[in-house]
Amino acid sequence: MSVSCIARNELRTPSRNMRLDRAIRTVLLSALLMAPALMVPALAAGADETKPPLRLCADPTNLPFSSDDPAKPGLYLEIGHAVAQKLGRTVSTNWYKSYFGKRTVRETLLSKQCDAMVGLPLIDDFMGPAVIFSKPIAHEGYALVGGKDRKLAGIDDLKGLRVAVQYQSTPQNLLALRDDIQKVTVLSPEEGMAALDQGKVDIAFIWAPVAGWLNKTSSGDKYQIVSTEGDGLLWATAIGFAKASGALRDEVDAVLPSLAPEISALFAKYGVPDGAPVKFGQATQATASSTGAAEPATVGQAASTEKPVQTAAIAADTKGDATAGREVFNGTCAHCHGPDAVQAERKIDLRLLKKRYADDMEQTFWKTVHDGRPAKGMPAWKDVFSDDELRNVYAYLQSVQDTGGSD
Ligand code: HEC
Repeated sequence: MSVSCIARNELRTPSRNMRLDRAIRTVLLSALLMAPALMVPALAAGADETKPPLRLCADPTNLPFSSDDPAKPGLYLEIGHAVAQKLGRTVSTNWYKSYFGKRTVRETLLSKQCDAMVGLPLIDDFMGPAVIFSKPIAHEGYALVGGKDRKLAGIDDLKGLRVAVQYQSTPQNLLALRDDIQKVTVLSPEEGMAALDQGKVDIAFIWAPVAGWLNKTSSGDKYQIVSTEGDGLLWATAIGFAKASGALRDEVDAVLPSLAPEISALFAKYGVPDGAPVKFGQATQATASSTGAAEPATVGQAASTEKPVQTAAIAADTKGDATAGREVFNGTCAHCHGPDAVQAERKIDLRLLKKRYADDMEQTFWKTVHDGRPAKGMPAWKDVFSDDELRNVYAYLQSVQDTGGSD
């Protein structure tokens, strides 16, 4: 067992997350937020005096999710503001400092201290049916954090490396099975990032929102952050309401789609990943079962260095690099178009481009992606990505086209 433990005092003093060894707790903690709209007149513009403020519960010291510093209110707080503004309401904040998820929800939301909580985990057994949920707003969980030149596409990329894992976290359990990966136990995501900065580990496999926030605010954005997926590694989050607030929940659901670009931008602002994951849990199984022959396509693409799963015909007339394109896609486009372009809503299902546009597919792609369709909620990307990057995205999208029934 190559588990070493970084002494706490060698590292930056861990802050509030230190005691939160478990993902759900952390998420809940983070989730208890919301905002002082009244302090920010711009946000209150358009509010209807006759409607009561939307009451949000928030932890005053939990960035990137919420804080009582009006200069950086936090991701969930700002989402709460955006929702309230769409509903023509102001926001009032009930500050609540808590370390215990379910108890906090009981003492705030379910005790009618607030109307909504942004960022509750949309998981089967989370306080239902007392708590009801909006549509998902994002996915949160654990991520691999490492230098931008590293390949971080699956568990095998961690072979031989020193990997920081949080004490009693899903990543720690997952990697416990691997003798070829050196685990370094840390007590918080902050410690994991510090270990990375100090060169004590090669990779940190830690809670993604805090990793993203620290990468942005104190590490000069020098790391890549790759979300992972699997049991206990990634879950959807939503806005939670008390059961009796069904009407408010429906109102919020009705405005959420139009807020998608804004919410996406807020995730970017706070450095919090909301993109698609590496299929990490599955990759583990594929690895364990010795032959990779039957791996699902996504795992094959993620885990193998050799050949992406796509047909030679498509690859041949593709100029871009589909693997690089997939990364951009999953990092940015997936928030709306679905991880790996898997999207049930047909209108934004990009696997249907070929069927929909046939020979005009490429032209439609460039026009839409360059200029966006702002009125429809599709942002313009020409100032965000180079044409080379977008060509890679196009190559990737070509590799996932639904060809059944047409060509
Ligand atoms: C904030 C949400 C959002 C993000 C992020 C986003 N899109 Fe879109 N996209 C949309 C919506 C909504 C539409 C549908 C517009 C419409 O109804 O015409 C769309 C349409 C498209 C279309 C045209 C689909 C068609 O069938 O006509 C393409 C191509 C596309 N997006 C590519 C991308 C790419 C590539 C990225 C990432 C660089 C991206 N989108 C990121 C929301 C988004």
